[in-house]
Amino acid sequence: MVLLSKESSNKYITKINTQHDSSTTEPVFKLKIFSNQNVILLFKKKFIFRLKFCSLGRYLTKTAMTTSSSLHTKRLLLGITGGIAAYKAAEVARLLVKKDIDVQTVMTESACKFIGPATLQALTGNTVFTDLWDSRINNNMAHINISRDASAILISPASANFIAKLANGFADDLLSTLCLARNCPLFIAPAMNRQMWEHPATQRNLVTLQRDGVLIIGPASGAQACGEAGMGRMLEAQKLVEEMLIFFQPKLLQDKHILITAGPTYEAIDAVRGITNLSSGKMGYAVANAALEAGAKVTLISGPTFLEAPSGATLINVTSAQEMFSAVKKGLSGTDIFISVAAVADFLPANNSNQKIKRTSSNISLLLAPNPDILEFVAKTPKPPFCVGFAAETENLEKNAEAKRRRKKIPLLAANLVPNAINSDKSELILFDDNGKHLLPEAPKIEQARHLIKHVSLLYEKWNK
Ligand code: C5P
Repeated sequence: MVLLSKESSNKYITKINTQHDSSTTEPVFKLKIFSNQNVILLFKKKFIFRLKFCSLGRYLTKTAMTTSSSLHTKRLLLGITGGIAAYKAAEVARLLVKKDIDVQTVMTESACKFIGPATLQALTGNTVFTDLWDSRINNNMAHINISRDASAILISPASANFIAKLANGFADDLLSTLCLARNCPLFIAPAMNRQMWEHPATQRNLVTLQRDGVLIIGPASGAQACGEAGMGRMLEAQKLVEEMLIFFQPKLLQDKHILITAGPTYEAIDAVRGITNLSSGKMGYAVANAALEAGAKVTLISGPTFLEAPSGATLINVTSAQEMFSAVKKGLSGTDIFISVAAVADFLPANNSNQKIKRTSSNISLLLAPNPDILEFVAKTPKPPFCVGFAAETENLEKNAEAKRRRKKIPLLAANLVPNAINSDKSELILFDDNGKHLLPEAPKIEQARHLIKHVSLLYEKWNK
């Protein structure tokens, strides 16, 4: 049995890899070699030192995963091309694996000059392919088979040369051939010297790739390995992984029309003064992003914020509650789901002035009139969309939130305590619906938004029947 040697872990893995099933390119050897009997045998004879045993454990875990839940496995083909940023690919692989994504690495010859395949193999637990003529692929069709199980290909880093090859349909090594023969989305993370990036040839190639539907992530601007500074730096591993996680989000609300309100409103007292609140809009924007990730068509009606518009959403900027109300009424037709995250001012000055009110030494009074309750209005239309409300409370959170949900006659309300949520990047939410309450412990708002969207999609499905 080849496993019983005291060789380096790379050799160890290579030896295992030599035994694969002849009917598939998947390394089914994991199932075949590691029968319980073999594990016990290895254990008893103590042939594997700790590191090796860790590898074995990972193989066993992976085996269990592939056999029991292969339908749910997220697979990414990570292509690495030749550039100094190739070292960041190891971190990309590590973070992806940490997020339960099965990473299959393919490296070009130049990539192997910057980083060793053994590193990627150890981090991903998968054989790394580099050769178009790899004889381990039983039908010798590595260029087809390796990508067939992948949900997407990410080339990180994508060198100027590789971008040129992609744009022109070259297929002269394994990775370029795989990309040409793929049936899944292709993401590229360019990385190169700033002048290479700015060169008209590179820019032309990028336009071609965009036209071909290739998704380009980055690059960023900054200090470069060559000592120069400018555009062409590959995005950091964390950012690339975030992009991939977005891609892997289940499309729970595919093509559903979602109308979202976000941010505060501003109610003018005079030409320079007004009433507003501390809402930053972060939660509403996070909900918009999560809805986009879930495949929805999103219209975001936003009060004044300093946030970046979620790409892919239709953004309508408003200032006052009245403007928000008008925009919501206009956007309502065809809306499947309305999520009212905005902290709409409950009152507006009854007599606002177009001119700046002059300072006086005596008291002046401000008469306030109620603003329309936008959510309640939408929920009470004859054929309302599925309505979700938010409540920020300072006390009696649960009692007030549930009472609010009933009063507004909405199926779902997300509540949070004001000091924990306002202007923060994190929040703790409690969701109230007809089945009771569901706690979402403190987490970044984007994660809370993803949980919320998942919850919405489940309730919406039942509600819509
Ligand atoms: O009653 P309260 O203002 O706390 O309710 C909060 C919920 O109602 C939020 O979803 C908010 O967007 C919505 N709302 C509204 N119009 C208002 C006030 C609140 O749509 N004028």
